[in-house]
Amino acid sequence: MIITIDGPGGTGKSTTAQLLAKRLGYYHLNSGTLYRWITFNALQQHLNLNDSDVLLTLAKKLDYNNIDYNVLMEQNVSDNVAKIASIAAIRAEIVEIQRNYAKGKDIVVEGRDIGTVVFPDADYKFYFTASLEIRAKRRYAQMQKDGLEADYNSVLESISSRDRQDIEREHSPLRKAEDAIAIDTDNLTVEQGIDIILKEIQTLAI
Ligand code: C5P
Repeated sequence: MIITIDGPGGTGKSTTAQLLAKRLGYYHLNSGTLYRWITFNALQQHLNLNDSDVLLTLAKKLDYNNIDYNVLMEQNVSDNVAKIASIAAIRAEIVEIQRNYAKGKDIVVEGRDIGTVVFPDADYKFYFTASLEIRAKRRYAQMQKDGLEADYNSVLESISSRDRQDIEREHSPLRKAEDAIAIDTDNLTVEQGIDIILKEIQTLAI
């Protein structure tokens, strides 16, 4: 069984997907971490972010089983990840990794193109939205909690710029799958979001 949650950053996808998976006893895959891991390594190795061949070589040799999750939310990574995620060959590589990982598993997968491209035949699809201000506030609070350097206006600008790049890119742009259920999380707690998903799943399964 595959459940997908797509949507822009800061809509609560990750926390929801993680807790939903735990609740159901399913695996959980946050596909953004894969793109962020490539970005972190590219920055650390001072690679040319305009050279897609060099970036693809890096993407192919990275070990995705040993990701350092502590570095992925750094502002520098957030500011550059959308550029790297726009490269078609890198996306093809990451799509394969996701499909292989999910094979034979009950899993909740979250990202931008999961319901549209990675798992178009998923059993249940959801698409999260929330206002830019609420998303920036959530991301800012999370960064402060994690002890990361953060400035609210920069966080808001970074999220907005990433939205634009994710929506406007040529390959696998961020969009709602036609058969995905839209959930606006502006006024929802994580628990309420999970309850809505579980209710929808029960309804659709009948
Ligand atoms: O979900 P998160 O904000 O960590 O994703 C970081 C970035 O990775 C996104 O802004 C997007 O550019 C890219 N991404 C993507 N496709 C996915 C997941 C993430 O292009 N399925």
